[in-house]
Amino acid sequence: MLPSLSSPSRFILMKVVRSVAIFGVVLAAIGRLAFKTLVPQSTAEGVAMGKYLLGDSGLLSDGVGKHFFPWKAAFWTSTPGMRKVISPPGGSAHLATRTWFYDEQILSALQPGWQVVICGAGFDTRAYRMHVPRGVRFFELDLAEHPGVQNYKRRQLERNGILSAPNVTFLPIDFKTQSISDVLARGGHDPKQPTVFLLEGVTMYLTRESVAETVAAMKAISAPGSLLLCELFDARLLTEAARDDAALGPYWKFVTMVGEPYSFGVEPAKMASFWTKELGVKIIAHKTPEEQRDEWLDTPGAIVIDDGLLPHGGICHLFSLRLK
Ligand SMILES: C[S@@+](CC[C@H](N)C(=O)[O-])C[C@H]1O[C@@H](n2cnc3c(N)ncnc32)[C@H](O)[C@@H]1O
Repeated sequence: MLPSLSSPSRFILMKVVRSVAIFGVVLAAIGRLAFKTLVPQSTAEGVAMGKYLLGDSGLLSDGVGKHFFPWKAAFWTSTPGMRKVISPPGGSAHLATRTWFYDEQILSALQPGWQVVICGAGFDTRAYRMHVPRGVRFFELDLAEHPGVQNYKRRQLERNGILSAPNVTFLPIDFKTQSISDVLARGGHDPKQPTVFLLEGVTMYLTRESVAETVAAMKAISAPGSLLLCELFDARLLTEAARDDAALGPYWKFVTMVGEPYSFGVEPAKMASFWTKELGVKIIAHKTPEEQRDEWLDTPGAIVIDDGLLPHGGICHLFSLRLK
C-alpha cells in the first residue's frame, strides 16, 4: 500500500505518471509509423526487396536493385532475423528460381534488334543489368496510377546515372481495360521485329479474360520467333484454405494489406490446355514448383536461407511459350 501523500506530493506524482504515459503513447505511435514506412507499400516493392536480399546473399547478380529503397533494404538485411521477417516462407526460393528461369530464357532468345516488353514491370532491373545484343530495345509497362512506381523508379535511376539508356521506353497500361497492342503501337514497338514478352508476377492479379485478351493482342503484333515468358499460379491459391496455409497465408496477408489481392489461377492439370487449346500458343518449357525446389536446393548458398518449403508454397509454374 502507498503511504499517504500530502497534496503537493500527490500532485507531483500524478504529473510524473501522466508525463510517462504520454511519452509512452507518443513513442509507440512513432515506432508504429516508422515500422509502417519500412514495410513494403506495394507488391512491386515487396518483390524488389526480396530480390535485393537475394542479390545481397550473392544468389542474384543485380547491382541496380540497391538503388531502390536503400534505407529499407539496409534495415531488413541488418540481421538474419530481419531477413526472415521480410521474406515469407518459400519467398526467396520463389523469386530466385523465377528470375533465373526468365533471365536464361531471355538471354538465350535475344538477337540483335529484338525487343523486350516487360509487363507489370515494377522494379524490374533487366533493362539496366542485362548484357544484351546490339540494338535490343526494352519497353516497361505498368499501371499509371500505381503508387508512383514508375516515377520513383525513373527518379532513382536518373539520380544514380543509370537511366541514360535511350533503349528503354516507359508506358502506362491497365491490362484489365487496355490492349497491349494499342499501347505498344503508341510507344514505337515494331511488330516486324521479334519480341520477348515477360509477364513476371502479374497474371495472378488479372482475370482469365484479361490474360486471354492480352496474349491474343501479343500474338497479333508478334513477328515469327516471338516468345512469352509467364508464370501461372495454381488455382489452389484462390481457395479459403490457402489463407490458413503455412506457406501461402503470409502472402495472402501481404497482398491484401497493400490492396493487390490475388484473382487468377489455373489447376495444374489444365495448364497445358489453357496455353495450347484456349490461347493457341506453344509450350517451349515448363518448370514445375518441384523442379524449382530441386534447382534451389542444388544451388550453393541457397541452403543457407532455405526454409524447407516449396517456392511460394508450391503453386508457381513457370512457362516459356512460342507466340508465333
Ligand atoms: C508483384 S509485382 C511484380 C513486379 C515485377 N514484374 C517483378 O517481378 O519484379 C506486380 C506488378 O504488376 C502490376 N500490375 C498489377 N495489375 C496490373 C494491371 N491490371 N495492369 C498493369 N499492371 C498491373 C503492378 O503494378 C506491379 O508492378
